[in-house]
Amino acid sequence: MRANVKILGAGDCADSFDERDAFALDVLAGLSAAHKSIPSKYFYDEQGSELFRRITRLPEYYLTGCELEILEGQWDRIAALVAGKPFNLVELGPGFSRKTTLFLERFLKSGLDYQYVPIDISASSMGALVGELADLFPDLKTHGLVGDYFHGLKWLNHRFRRRNLVLFLGSSIGNFTRAESCSFLRSAWKCLNHDDLVLMGFDLKKDIDVLLRAYNDSLGLTSRFNLNLLERINRELGGCFDVEKFRHFGSYDVSSSSMESYLVSQERQSVFIEQIGRSFDFEAWEAIHTEHSCKYSLSDVEWLASQSGFKIREHLFDSCRFFADSIWSVDKPESVRQGTEGEAVAQSLGSDSRL
Ligand SMILES: C[S@@+](CC[C@H](N)C(=O)[O-])C[C@H]1O[C@@H](n2cnc3c(N)ncnc32)[C@H](O)[C@@H]1O
Repeated sequence: MRANVKILGAGDCADSFDERDAFALDVLAGLSAAHKSIPSKYFYDEQGSELFRRITRLPEYYLTGCELEILEGQWDRIAALVAGKPFNLVELGPGFSRKTTLFLERFLKSGLDYQYVPIDISASSMGALVGELADLFPDLKTHGLVGDYFHGLKWLNHRFRRRNLVLFLGSSIGNFTRAESCSFLRSAWKCLNHDDLVLMGFDLKKDIDVLLRAYNDSLGLTSRFNLNLLERINRELGGCFDVEKFRHFGSYDVSSSSMESYLVSQERQSVFIEQIGRSFDFEAWEAIHTEHSCKYSLSDVEWLASQSGFKIREHLFDSCRFFADSIWSVDKPESVRQGTEGEAVAQSLGSDSRL
């Protein structure tokens, strides 16, 4: 087995904090705001990752099945794009899914020369993933990075300078707002080399009833997944949330084309969080915003690529056209393909009034 996991820390990224301090600061900032919120990246502790794994198996949560259909049917087209030279197969936020093992299995069978570099903020899912992969694929070189997507890409660029195929599956890009997506993609572009490839999953706009069912499943797993955020604050930050006094609410915002998840306080209450050393007041029916899941048209996808310096190679669809995996390549002018001059180009990409 050739697998290892690196936890990215303060020595690797100048702006990283201890994970628990960062969580406490984000909860403090989010619950102190006029419109309360908690970033969705905190869903994925051990319990949250397991609940999400179960959600992806629900028929209502069509995203996973649709993307699996695309990748199973068209993986050889993707393999052809990276054949011939050693490369890094980088995956942003893999969790643990059949989509990942499908790629690894087929790529190994085709004799492609690659090492697998998963980057995930959840130490528990990374541990489980790397352990499982070592059993399933003893010859695979795996280098797991625990940390934020962007810190992982930055670290990777300094260590393994070879061609990258970056997977960003499950429409996880949709958890960023439009402005955050542009900023994230421009940062990723800076870290990558000319002609590197990105394969990104986009959940397409569709019948709102299908969306509402996907994010309000009949078994109540999405509700438990959302409420686990409060349980995590209780476990890790000494919070005193009575989870029974909150409820999950998922709704579609037609103006931003996104499913929005909330935790709604069902009564007036005050909740103390020990690690933060203060209480937070909630009015009856006041909401905490917990997740943004944007839905896209193809012109939205094309706009994102053009704003961030990528060239679209092709879009792959499932048979219902519910989902698209879009393959992009990094396009850098010859004059800035080496060194840090890429910064200047990223700045010159310009901004758009839609941000
Ligand atoms: C929605 S799940 C997607 C899992 C899988 N890619 C799929 O398609 O089913 C998001 C994954 O990204 C990870 N994640 C969320 N925010 C992250 C961040 N900012 N940096 C690194 N990983 C993150 C979570 O831990 C989780 O494993």
